[in-house]
Amino acid sequence: MLYTDKTIADNIYYVGVNDRQKHLFENYLPLPNGVSYNSYLIVDEKVALVDTVDVAFADVFFKQIDAILGDRPIDYLIVDHMEPDHAGSIGLLRTRYPNVQIVGNKKTFDYLKGYFCIDSNLLEVAEGDALSLGKTNLQFYFAPMVHWPEVMVTYDPDRQILFSADAFGTFGALNGSFRDDELNLEPFWDDMRRYYACIVGKFGNPVQTALKKLSGLPIKIICSTHGPVWQSQIAKVVGLYDQWSKYETEPGVVIAYGSMYGNTKQMAEAVAQGVVDGGIHRVVVHDVSKSDPSYILADIFKYKGLIIGSPTYMMGLYPLIDSLLHKIEERCIKNHVYSCFGSFTWAGAACKKLTDFAGTMNWPLVGTPVENKQGACTDVLQRCYELGKQMSAEILK
Ligand code: FEO
Repeated sequence: MLYTDKTIADNIYYVGVNDRQKHLFENYLPLPNGVSYNSYLIVDEKVALVDTVDVAFADVFFKQIDAILGDRPIDYLIVDHMEPDHAGSIGLLRTRYPNVQIVGNKKTFDYLKGYFCIDSNLLEVAEGDALSLGKTNLQFYFAPMVHWPEVMVTYDPDRQILFSADAFGTFGALNGSFRDDELNLEPFWDDMRRYYACIVGKFGNPVQTALKKLSGLPIKIICSTHGPVWQSQIAKVVGLYDQWSKYETEPGVVIAYGSMYGNTKQMAEAVAQGVVDGGIHRVVVHDVSKSDPSYILADIFKYKGLIIGSPTYMMGLYPLIDSLLHKIEERCIKNHVYSCFGSFTWAGAACKKLTDFAGTMNWPLVGTPVENKQGACTDVLQRCYELGKQMSAEILK
């Protein structure tokens, strides 16, 4: 049968949904490939549901649960994460199953009361606590700030299954299967890095803490709240999270520029040519007026070198560059080498602000930033070209 075939392991079912309608995740991050909200149903002597789904999909969500349970009630709702893309259907769930006991931690229950006015029939768990459903035993481990303070993960030690909340999640709806060995995974890897960079990227240290805590647990299956259920790619996805949370990068350069009339763009093109001639061939050039910032951030998380260019605008930075710098700074991105260039017509400000950004981020400044007055001339473009070569030399050192 359609719904009940979604078996992850004996008595554990996938009951998540695909969202192919939403354009913007959290109302600002593009979803060209959609996204899934994953929920998991464990049917034993007691029935437990791990997280719910966005309330917009409650109808199909409950149909899937009904197809498996029939009239049988749900005994426990385990809330690993309270963000509404997962917690959104809790209110309706409580209405359908008034006796369901909600399992969470102290912070979970604070948010639960705030969002849903629910403060009864709760089961509070502490770090390492266990819950038996019959044959199935579950343990709870806290993973604060991966991605909210209340986040915890649920672990089945007998079958070595980790319900990981947002950790190891990715954008991208699930096309025909939730199993990683039945999906074409190619579109997911870039979307996974973009998801990480935008959603979890600020919290590298908490992710490292969580990874160290979980490193002692043998894991055969990871059930995240977004994207594939990982079984054949466990080592890869854990390795990627380890790499990204340590801000480890590959040799390559991101050039992000703003340009109103093309002069700063010409500088960017010369810088890019210099990078390639210097020996680094992995170069991504982003016009910030065209590229969504989430893609720029995802590339910055991938590559070691970053060069930013901006015209002077209102005696400051071009607005979209200003916004990009803010996004980089709030993610506390480490381990990069950096340089910049800028332009102006009557009084320069952008290049100095971009140069100061190296200090803000505690990144080494490579070469001498290039500042251009009015039209980009050959001399300026030659210096941009040299700057690109210096960036390559720095990365190849
Ligand atoms: Fe997918 Fe932080 O919620």
